[in-house]
Amino acid sequence: MCGIVGYIGPRDATPIILNGLKRLEYRGYDSAGLAVLTNGHLEIRRDAGKLDRLAALVAEDPVEGHVGIGHTRWATHGEPSARNAHPHQGATGAVVIAHNGIVENYLELRDELGAEGVEFKSDTDTEVIVQLVDRYLSLGIGLVEAARKSFRHLKGAHGIVLLSATEPDKIVAARIGNAGGVVVGLGEGETFIASDIPAILEHTRQVVFLESGQMAVVGRQGVEVQTLEGKTIPFEVHNVAWDPVAAEKGEYRHFMDKEIHEQVRSLTDTIAGRVDFEAGRVRLPQLNLTRDLACRIQKVIITACGTAAHAGMVGKVLIERIARVPVEVDIASEFRYRDPIVDENTVVLAISQSGETADTLAAMEETRLKGGVLWSIVNAIGSQAMRIADGYISMQTGPEIGVASTKAYTAPLVDLYMLAVLLADLRGVLSDKERRRLVADLALVPDLAGHCLDREAEVERVAFALKDVKHCIYLGRGINMPTAYEGALKLKEISYIHAEGYPAGEMKHGPIALIDRDMPVVVIAPRDPWYEKMFSQIEQAKARGGIVVAVATEGDETIAKFADQVLWVPPTPWMLSPVTTVIPLQMLAYHIAALRGLDVDQPRNLAKSVTVE
Ligand code: AGP
Repeated sequence: MCGIVGYIGPRDATPIILNGLKRLEYRGYDSAGLAVLTNGHLEIRRDAGKLDRLAALVAEDPVEGHVGIGHTRWATHGEPSARNAHPHQGATGAVVIAHNGIVENYLELRDELGAEGVEFKSDTDTEVIVQLVDRYLSLGIGLVEAARKSFRHLKGAHGIVLLSATEPDKIVAARIGNAGGVVVGLGEGETFIASDIPAILEHTRQVVFLESGQMAVVGRQGVEVQTLEGKTIPFEVHNVAWDPVAAEKGEYRHFMDKEIHEQVRSLTDTIAGRVDFEAGRVRLPQLNLTRDLACRIQKVIITACGTAAHAGMVGKVLIERIARVPVEVDIASEFRYRDPIVDENTVVLAISQSGETADTLAAMEETRLKGGVLWSIVNAIGSQAMRIADGYISMQTGPEIGVASTKAYTAPLVDLYMLAVLLADLRGVLSDKERRRLVADLALVPDLAGHCLDREAEVERVAFALKDVKHCIYLGRGINMPTAYEGALKLKEISYIHAEGYPAGEMKHGPIALIDRDMPVVVIAPRDPWYEKMFSQIEQAKARGGIVVAVATEGDETIAKFADQVLWVPPTPWMLSPVTTVIPLQMLAYHIAALRGLDVDQPRNLAKSVTVE
């Protein structure tokens, strides 16, 4: 997970940056770098590899100064290498940038800047930002205004820090969209910037969180917060706890809330290092998927429990549709005792956030005994499910603390999409054009998730209306049928409201008998290939006096007319729509549970990792 640290003050910035980056190390990264202002110019040290490598570079060629920025990178565009590691410099070398996020339109911007004669020094999307800033600085515009003008060109969600040798008294930071944290730490005559609180916790407890659409002009004496339009705005200084676990919660009341909001970043990290946007290709090296294996696979069985199994159900639709390989989804506790049919041409794909779930591990053992090919998608690095597999995909979301899984649900959805594209590519069942389109769509995902999060206030209003219900039914169809299961699971596990997820077409075969004014029906009806069918479910529920809460695509006036409440999601390519449709449902469950005053992060009777049968 990319991390950012910045410092301005009387002390030497280098050790502060290195220590800060070290505190973020557990999130994972593949390269690291720092830039420090020394005697009027910027000194950069950066390389692929771990922080020890960066520390060695600094030891060989020391760099000292009172202002600097640093970064740990998980590659999204361009391989992990010294030239692609952050910080990046523009053409003049006067400005450096460190960045978290994906510049969705970087190819366009690179062409535009290239036509102006800019020569790019890296393969990253990030470099276009600093080249834009350089462009405006060379027109005689100051750093803050140059940054603001540059940010207007960017599509996507971003956390950014910029430092310029021409204005050594400041660092400019910005949070654009819901790209995850940018936090400013206030000290005595010194100021810190970080993507995450642990990076600066040893120096200060006084912090300012940037909201989406805000910039910070950071100096030794503190910070000025502005909108992206240039208006100075008041800000709140938060006092965070010393306890690192509590501090990690930052501005959020609960870990679940934080983890829901981390999804822009976790989805960026999920893609990191796996996608070559220029070639339109996916790379999943740890899966050990060769062309020979891809062509010989006759069946994939996805096995998992709970939320992970719901992700697997979406994976079935994706792998069948994109790669044309038959897929079964089997709950791990069933698979392990059913004497399943598995041979050397069967891949069993286990999905597990913890990688330690007893039933899932037992299903993997069963596969091993039967001679199948064993893959896993796992969040916890080094866990059993990762170690015993023939190949794996790591979720790259960072630790998930809340018992109710959120970011560890959306990450595997994207992993499964990438797996389907890779499998299809190796089996030769995708045209070049189609593959490029599917890959290009991946760049949209983080920002689309951010748009869902921007609508939280509306979700909270719906939560208020529903907080006292006793039962709730969730209906979905096609690729969003598992979204109904997952939405219902989220509600039941943290709010203790009885909730059922159902394939919408099954409603008339029984559950329709339950519908009345006391049984809200949550209908997941984005503009996907099943939209028309879902719409008729809304009509059927309304005809029986049901209260309908629809998850619908922005601009859908028809649904707005029929549903009692609407949770809006942005238009999303349908194969990625389960990522966006689930986010309002995660927020809905969270707010209902919080309104009921419940222990959201540790609901009764549940454990984060179910290591017993
Ligand atoms: C998710 O909200 C649940 N707490 C639970 O269903 C969980 O997904 C399940 O126990 C599987 O866990 P795993 O991903 O660690 O294997």
